[in-house]
Amino acid sequence: MLSIRLSVVTLGSLSQLSFAAAAAASAPKCDFQPVALPLKDVQVLPRVKDSYMRGIPIKVGTPPQDLVVMPWAELNNTFLYDYEAYCDKSIIWNDVICEVRRGEYFYENASSSYHQSRDVDTAGGATVETGAKGAELGIPELLSTSLGGTDTVALTDDPQLRLDKFPLGIPRMNWDHGYTIMHALGLGANSTLLNQLSAAGRIGSRTWSIFWGRMWNSRPLDGSVVLGGYDRDKTIGENYTQRLDYSETTGCWTGMKVTVQDMQIIRRDGKSSSLFPPNYSVPVCIVPQRQLLIEAPQRVLTEFEKQTQTARVKDTGLDGASAELHWGAITYSDKSFFDGDLSISLSSGLSVRVPNDQFMVPKPYVDRNGSRLLDRSYREFLFSPLADNGNPATLGRYFLTAAYLMVNHDAGTFTLWRANPTTSSSLVPVVAEKVAADVCGGDAPGLVQPSPTAGSDVQSGEGSDGRLSSGAIAGIAASVAALAILGLAGFFLVRKRRQGRAAEGTASMMIQDHNNGDSNGLYSGGSTAYAPSGWSEMPAHEQVAAPQELYGKTDWAQGQGYGRPGDPVPYELDSNSYSRINQ
Ligand SMILES: *[C@@H]1O[C@H](CO)[C@@H](O)[C@H](O)[C@H]1NC(C)=O
Ligand SMILES: *[C@@H]1O[C@H](CO)[C@@H](O)[C@H](O)[C@H]1NC(C)=O
Ligand SMILES: *[C@@H]1O[C@H](CO)[C@@H](O)[C@H](O)[C@H]1NC(C)=O
Ligand SMILES: *[C@@H]1O[C@H](CO)[C@@H](O)[C@H](O)[C@H]1NC(C)=O
Ligand SMILES: *[C@@H]1O[C@H](CO)[C@@H](O)[C@H](O)[C@H]1NC(C)=O
Ligand SMILES: *[C@@H]1O[C@H](CO)[C@@H](O)[C@H](O)[C@H]1NC(C)=O
Repeated sequence: MLSIRLSVVTLGSLSQLSFAAAAAASAPKCDFQPVALPLKDVQVLPRVKDSYMRGIPIKVGTPPQDLVVMPWAELNNTFLYDYEAYCDKSIIWNDVICEVRRGEYFYENASSSYHQSRDVDTAGGATVETGAKGAELGIPELLSTSLGGTDTVALTDDPQLRLDKFPLGIPRMNWDHGYTIMHALGLGANSTLLNQLSAAGRIGSRTWSIFWGRMWNSRPLDGSVVLGGYDRDKTIGENYTQRLDYSETTGCWTGMKVTVQDMQIIRRDGKSSSLFPPNYSVPVCIVPQRQLLIEAPQRVLTEFEKQTQTARVKDTGLDGASAELHWGAITYSDKSFFDGDLSISLSSGLSVRVPNDQFMVPKPYVDRNGSRLLDRSYREFLFSPLADNGNPATLGRYFLTAAYLMVNHDAGTFTLWRANPTTSSSLVPVVAEKVAADVCGGDAPGLVQPSPTAGSDVQSGEGSDGRLSSGAIAGIAASVAALAILGLAGFFLVRKRRQGRAAEGTASMMIQDHNNGDSNGLYSGGSTAYAPSGWSEMPAHEQVAAPQELYGKTDWAQGQGYGRPGDPVPYELDSNSYSRINQ
């Protein structure tokens, strides 16, 4: 009896020892290496040479399936489309186009390592997604409607970057509208990806950074997404750091609310002029995955057309707005378009100059055969006008051709620099203060960023100067729930209207209504039922205070020069395309 017990104890101690040894072997070490993922044109369909989409190539499942994903600041979970891909049939004519624009379907039924769960939550996913106005309208329903499961996700060929049993959502509703394009790699405040890499000691903080690269010109440049740090070579000059603020009034749904204080056109002779009236500024949310440079009030576009003496063409798309990859962009003829640059200045002091070839671009579209082609008879101004008191203004992916962005969820801050468009790279690890102390003994590599509050895992904007009372938190929870309901109602309303219009076959009505302020949802999914304060254009002195700026002073951008017209790219304009909008 005694001997049996002894042997059990011995076995127990042994297994404890080996567990301890294993734990010691995998205890976090202070050798954090940021992970650079390319953001580049990837051929989506092996069978179609030109089936390019810009995104991050990853491998999912067993055997590995090649997918292309888009970094998403407004989601916590990663959502992959399977063969039920919910492309919007009113603008995406066939399955091949859908397959390309989604970044190839994920066939979970062909993966031996896929494990289906009851939902995203039970798969280990993040339990909250945003319900804020301005974000894609279907997001609040994503968690409850999506299939949930886990599978192996390989971010690169490095086996250390293979995430086993990674929680995934597979959408079962059309939550993002046709223009939104791709699988979504969630990088929000409770990002499952950043959480997992950080918990594994692979990265020193839940930080990600992005440079979009340059597209559509004769010298395209890949962008990159860095996890756990940033790429110093792709930054110029000073940094401008602000707190992430997710509040509906002072912040926005990605946490990255800034104020555009001026937008100027810079003509080829160097003369510049402002598109803003005096004492005017526009609060905007930085939404890196959005398909344009900027969504801003109509009056800015009106001023642009007045000063540049250009007029949109009306013979294409939605009454002059693109219905293709740059959904909502304003279309000009290649005979008459503005050929200078655009500068965007923020109240933080950051000012960037966006070169002409990154906001006035030939029109890209995915052909029925899956090729991504350029229609050079048009130029798309990557600007979508917002009705007054409509949706929040946004700065999208093309802002990140000229600005470099870093988001640190552990520090609760985001940082902007002017972007240096270069292929050269020098990665800087960013380490959370607590990790630097606990794991690195106070001697961490790279940049240590302080945590806003010690010991709390998820920060959402309220920094050192404001703890929220539990009453305030309950209030926020209630308003989030109310928003979710309003948002859903708005979503179905917009869908219904859209379907109604599509049936009438009057595509141009969509934009007319948009200009009437009735259907912003067509553009960015916003609900028309609720308009928070602090978003519409207003005189600067009446504005809600911008989030506290921690560093930075005025620093004007240097010109980046002009790209030369690109080599001809084959295209065939199907002038009947838009008559099929009612298919
Ligand atoms: C798709 O069609 C276009 C013409 O519409 C053509 O230029 C392109 O080469 C085709 N792509 C493939 C892969 O055949
Ligand atoms: C992510 O999760 C956090 C914590 O639940 C939540 O506050 C936030 O709204 C979610 N979405 C984003 C984009 O951060
Ligand atoms: C997975 O399901 C899709 C849709 O039903 C089907 O087309 C495909 O053949 C299936 N693949 C496998 C390997 O079962
Ligand atoms: C973040 O996500 C995890 C699951 O990945 C969940 O357990 C946790 O509750 C979430 N945190 C917050 C604050 O929502
Ligand atoms: C930004 O600049 C300040 C002042 O030079 C510096 O202390 C800080 O570490 C910088 N932050 C980043 C993210 O580079
Ligand atoms: C703009 O603001 C300044 C300072 O607040 C004021 O002096 C000036 O009159 C204003 N200009 C206009 C056109 O409102």
